[in-house]
Formats: sequence, C-alpha cells, structure tokens
Amino acid sequence: MATPLPLQDRIAIVTGASRGIGRATALHLASLGAKLVINYTSNKAQAELVAAEINSSSSPSSPRAIICQADVSDPTQVKSLFDTAEQIFNSPPHILVNSAGVLDAKYPTIANTSLEDFDKIFSINSRGAFLCCREAANRIKRGGAGRIILMSTSLVGSLKPGFGAYTASKAAVETMAKIMAKELKGTGITVNCVAPGPIATDMFFSGKSEEDVKKAIEDSPLSRLGETKDVASVVGFLASDGGEWVNGQVVRVNGGYV
Ligand SMILES: NC(=O)c1ccc[n+]([C@@H]2O[C@H](COP(=O)([O-])OP(=O)(O)OC[C@H]3O[C@@H](n4cnc5c(N)ncnc54)[C@H](OP(=O)(O)O)[C@@H]3O)[C@@H](O)[C@H]2O)c1
Repeated sequence: MATPLPLQDRIAIVTGASRGIGRATALHLASLGAKLVINYTSNKAQAELVAAEINSSSSPSSPRAIICQADVSDPTQVKSLFDTAEQIFNSPPHILVNSAGVLDAKYPTIANTSLEDFDKIFSINSRGAFLCCREAANRIKRGGAGRIILMSTSLVGSLKPGFGAYTASKAAVETMAKIMAKELKGTGITVNCVAPGPIATDMFFSGKSEEDVKKAIEDSPLSRLGETKDVASVVGFLASDGGEWVNGQVVRVNGGYV
C-alpha cells in the first residue's frame, strides 16, 4: 500500500493564494496531500489558474482545490471563507495560512505616511490577520494537526526606514501569534509566524528601482533574492506533523541578511 502523504486530505485555507508566496504555498501544501481553499480578493483569473493546476491531478467530480473570494479585512467575508471550506470539503479546516497582505510601494518615512495609507495597511495586514486568526481559533479542527501560520516580515528585525507602517502592522501580527499559541492550550492547534526577507514577487518589485533590487541581493549572504518556494517549504514543514513542536514562534526565512 502506498504511504499516505504528510498532509493527506487535510483541509487548508490559504489567503492571498492567487499570487506570490500564497500561491507557492497553496501548490506546495497540495503536493503534500492537502485539499485547498484558494483565497483572493480581486484576481479571480489567477486564483483559477492555481486551482486548475492542483485539480489537474484529481477527478473532476471531487476537485482538491476551490477558489473563494474574500477580503480578509471584512469579518463577514472571512466568516464566509471558512463556511465555504467546511461546506465544500465537509470537514472543519485543519490549516490556515494567512498570506494576504499589502505594502505601501511609495516606501514613505513615517513623517510622510498618509493616514489613509496607514489605515489601509493596518486594515489588511493587522485587522485581516486578527479576523482570520479569530475565525481559525474557533473553527480549526481540535485534537491534533491544527495549524495557524501567519505571514510577517524580517523587517521586524532589520527595521529599515521607509517601511514604518508596514513593519508595525506585521509586528502586531507576531505579537498576536505568540499570545494565541498560549491561548489555544489544549486544542492541539499550533500558531506560528513565518517572516520572509526579500522574496521575488509582485509585492517586492513594486515601486523598486533596479538599484534597490541590486542592493537587496548584495545585502544577502547568499547573493540572491528569495524565491516563493523558499518560504513555501518552511510553511509546509510547520503545517505537517513533524512541525508540531514549533509553536508560538517567528521563523525568519531570509537567507541570513538579519
Ligand atoms: N515578497 C516579499 O518580499 C515579502 C517579504 C516579507 C513578507 N511578505 C509578506 O508575505 C505575504 C505575501 O506577499 P507576496 O509577496 O506574495 O504578495 P503579492 O505577490 O503582492 O500577493 C498578495 C496576495 O494577497 C492578496 N490580497 C491582497 N489584499 C487582500 C485582501 N484584502 N484580502 C484577501 N487577499 C488579499 C492578493 O490577492 P489578489 O491577487 O486578488 O490581489 C494576492 O494574492 C504578505 O503578507 C507580505 O506582507 C512578503
């Protein structure tokens, strides 16, 4: 008999899975056997491509991936994201990966950050993480294999100018994760943050000059940008049974620049 895959038939919700790190994470979790809810907010076509890639190896009558639009900053939409996962796969979800996030590509100092931009960043990155965590804490399967994995940033360690509101919004996420890991005592659910350094995605390249990109590569001990698969493999480890003992932690994935 074939050995079951590490995440065989576990249900995973990945927010922001239409692009970038979320996309690579969804594909990786699927390769480990999970069934996926591919969340997006505006790029339906890209979300559909991710689901189609996963479903290309499953029977059309029981797809292993579905797409679900939800803005993570809206409590009703976050609730319906979890409702959809439960209804389609007929089980409480086992894994939440919250990869949805935004950055201010003007890279303003705090002195030059508009209230509107500050509110937008906190609304999606911090409030969105809170809403997803709250729903997950109440609805993820108890008794083992439950995983909540939140995306932070290594900027919380490197504290670069020009990323004030963004970095602060992720520091809030790290704090929530550490507290929630303790609050979920007795449930078997672990809560961790993955905190990437520069990863080659739309978000990273947005608003950056060639010089900025070169500098990020120079700052890296491994002389390259991170790739989405560098992050996805760490999420996959945390999501699997072998990652259970890592709980309430921030795992920086950045090639060593901080
Ligand atoms: N790339 C990096 O260098 C880097 C470094 C450290 C941390 N991170 C963090 O890693 C995460 C993923 O970043 P990325 O580089 O993959 O970004 P990305 O390529 O810009 O993708 C962002 C994803 O988030 C989704 N999204 C945005 N706002 C949303 C909302 N309100 N509700 C639901 N989904 C929403 C987007 O959906 P649509 O496609 O529908 O717009 C997209 O799927 C973010 O939390 C980011 O802060 C990234």
